[in-house]
Amino acid sequence: MIEFFERLTRPFLQAIDPEDAHALTLRMLKHAPLPNAAADDKRLAMRAFGLNFPNPVGVAAGLDKNAEIPDALLRLGFGFVEVGTVTPLPQRGNPRPRLFRLEADRGVINRLGFNSQGGKAVLRRLAARSGRSGIVGINIGANRDTRDRVADYISTIEEFAPVASYVTINVSSPNTPGLRDLQQQQALDDLLARVIDARERVARNAGPTPVLLKIAPDLSLAELDDVVGVARGRRLDGMIVGNTTVTRPVGLRETAKAKETGGLSGRPLFPLATRMLAETYVRVEGVFPLIGVGGIDTGAAALGKFRAGASLVQLYSGLVFRGLGLLAEIKAALLAALERDRLASLAALIGAEAAAVTAEPWPR
Ligand SMILES: Cc1cc2nc3c(=O)[nH]c(=O)nc-3n(C[C@H](O)[C@H](O)[C@H](O)COP(=O)(O)O)c2cc1C
Repeated sequence: MIEFFERLTRPFLQAIDPEDAHALTLRMLKHAPLPNAAADDKRLAMRAFGLNFPNPVGVAAGLDKNAEIPDALLRLGFGFVEVGTVTPLPQRGNPRPRLFRLEADRGVINRLGFNSQGGKAVLRRLAARSGRSGIVGINIGANRDTRDRVADYISTIEEFAPVASYVTINVSSPNTPGLRDLQQQQALDDLLARVIDARERVARNAGPTPVLLKIAPDLSLAELDDVVGVARGRRLDGMIVGNTTVTRPVGLRETAKAKETGGLSGRPLFPLATRMLAETYVRVEGVFPLIGVGGIDTGAAALGKFRAGASLVQLYSGLVFRGLGLLAEIKAALLAALERDRLASLAALIGAEAAAVTAEPWPR
């Protein structure tokens, strides 16, 4: 039914302004009477951060910024949903237009700038669904004009820990000036020390809440050394690699749109994001799991993420171009790979090619 619905609406959604199309899609999913997706094959199950994922394919942050449709997305068959980024206070983000589709490149550039309904509204929605099954994480950020960025993260963790399956510290959005400076060694160590402290403080009421760090794919390898060192030192539960890139890979066809300021996602991001994933994997040495995100738009691309070191993957831009068929294709590709290699679970694939990926020439 959903595919039929999609086939009907996609041409229209692709013809209108991308931000209007996104708002419309959310509204349709909110009100569509969705049946539950078929139960997943047991071989797709994944345990990570102390959570049991029915399948390893999730929705990346930014698609459901205000937690309006996490249950609809779970019902469609995603293994988990990361809502947010949420900021403590509501804010509008940057002026429109701020979202651009690079059709010919299958890419997206956005400079939304954390448009968020704010912590109160999002918390109310997550609290209303607490007790329901399904893994829903919250991605948190700081208000653009806040006086104390670190305090923004701390207050948000304290509020959301009781209602979120996990919390992601987003220090990698390129669209909030200065935010990415929090990835610098000393700043990051101070931030994570206080984050973990806050998590422990509320654990008695909230239970154990895994804390993940989402990084930019634009870090240098020396910076990545520092970030992984801090994450390991502060005993983080995992990392997400990664966010959008401010670089513009060579060979983009939509040269005019490529000049727009903002973070690039989708197919052109895949080589860089996957390289950074493998570089992170070899540095983490199995101490915690990684979520691979960036440019997945085929089953083969998803497999590439697992082989480069991901235990879980997330999708965003690929869904814009491929629709929900992408999710089914990825699950089928994972199962086919297991059958081909006679594997009982995805665990054996994770990081199998990480070292090889890090030996390739740097993606341009
Ligand atoms: C329109 C748009 C909005 C996004 N908003 C957020 C956000 O609020 N927080 C965040 O951590 N990442 C955000 N992202 C980044 C995605 O979560 C993801 O890391 C990135 O797009 C790479 O994955 P993809 O190539 O599958 O899109 C956004 C991406 C897009 C395209």
